Amino acid sequence: MLERQELENFFFKLIEEELLIQAVLSGPRLAEGGAKVVIRPLVIKGKMAYQLTEQRQQQALHRNLSSEECCEWLKQHSDNFKQSFFYTKEADYHLLVSKRGHLTLLKKPPTKAERPIILTHNRQKEYVLSEGTVVPFLVQLGVMSATGKVYASKRDKFRQINRFLEMIEDVLAHLDPTQPVRLIDFGCGKAYLTFALYHFLKVMKGYQVHITGLDLKQEVIQYCQELAETLGYQRDLQFMQGDINTFQAEGKVDMMVSLHACDTATDAALEKAVRWQARVILCVPCCQHELMRQVQNQALEPLLKHGILKERFAALATDAARAQLLEVLGYHTQILEFIDLEHTPKNLLIRAVKRKQISSEHAEQAWASYVTFKESLEILPSLEKRFQAELKP
Ligand SMILES: C[S@@+](CC[C@H](N)C(=O)[O-])C[C@H]1O[C@@H](n2cnc3c(N)ncnc32)[C@H](O)[C@@H]1O
Repeated sequence: MLERQELENFFFKLIEEELLIQAVLSGPRLAEGGAKVVIRPLVIKGKMAYQLTEQRQQQALHRNLSSEECCEWLKQHSDNFKQSFFYTKEADYHLLVSKRGHLTLLKKPPTKAERPIILTHNRQKEYVLSEGTVVPFLVQLGVMSATGKVYASKRDKFRQINRFLEMIEDVLAHLDPTQPVRLIDFGCGKAYLTFALYHFLKVMKGYQVHITGLDLKQEVIQYCQELAETLGYQRDLQFMQGDINTFQAEGKVDMMVSLHACDTATDAALEKAVRWQARVILCVPCCQHELMRQVQNQALEPLLKHGILKERFAALATDAARAQLLEVLGYHTQILEFIDLEHTPKNLLIRAVKRKQISSEHAEQAWASYVTFKESLEILPSLEKRFQAELKP
């Protein structure tokens, strides 16, 4: 006999590990239950989901459930049916529910073939990296299997990497494909995105690149360097342990990327990039605490008196100040959404592209607008302090 908890664990494994090819639940134990339910996996907008078809009299009712909803549905409704079959590649499972509600789960040899990687119900979003195509660094980093299947627990990471590469694709016009391109990834961490940069620019687009990933953490750097060697990328992709504040680049840097570097580490990264006159800057700030301690404005009292609102406002004000200062310093700057809010709150990306020339009128207007902004909030952001000598008093 099977314990209830064991059955719930079984459902969780089926869904979490994306094992289910089809489920058929039949023989309602309760009068109001549907005659039969069929569940099959499908992909909606690039995310794994499940279509549940309930047969009631002459009608077939369809509805789509997320993975979590499907798991919950199975937990709540499976024992309304006398018997259910769960087909997976490894085995067919036959669940029997007795009149008294006793559970039995029988395991039998599989009768259904492996489900396709993508079951097209809705058209899958066209990603830069597509599921089903083996990408060596994603295999090594445990995002996809050796056959190109993205693991359920890594789907958000996969989407994030693709979103990042879309942003890179948008700035390609600013990088000269006939010249070697030098890139720095500040605060690279485990370097999913640094490897993605290499793969996209070098392997997919054929650019000559030299990429450096820098991070404070020695063990992370060692891991990334070994991975670069395993993949045979070590000539053009290197990792260094160090602090953004003291990092010295040899020669020009064309593009600076810094994603989720904490608090004012982002400002250190921006300062370096501007001083190198990098053509492209992509920055996703994170954990901005600096202005939380400074921001004041009588008129905003109803907002600033709430800690949570003040924190969010201070973070937005930090990014607005950074973007505006980059304009003053000669960059065309945009703030874009990096990934959906539902997946992470760290969703703003500062994209700055060096202007070929900047009129003194534009710089003056940008500066005046910045001054009005910072004076109204009584703030002195780190990025301004770093350029005090260059900026107007
Ligand atoms: C949240 S992780 C982000 C990793 C990666 N960029 C990503 O987005 O997946 C932030 C990383 O920045 C690094 N970091 C923070 N301050 C730094 C500094 N001053 N110099 C170098 N690395 C720094 C941390 O060690 C950490 O690995």
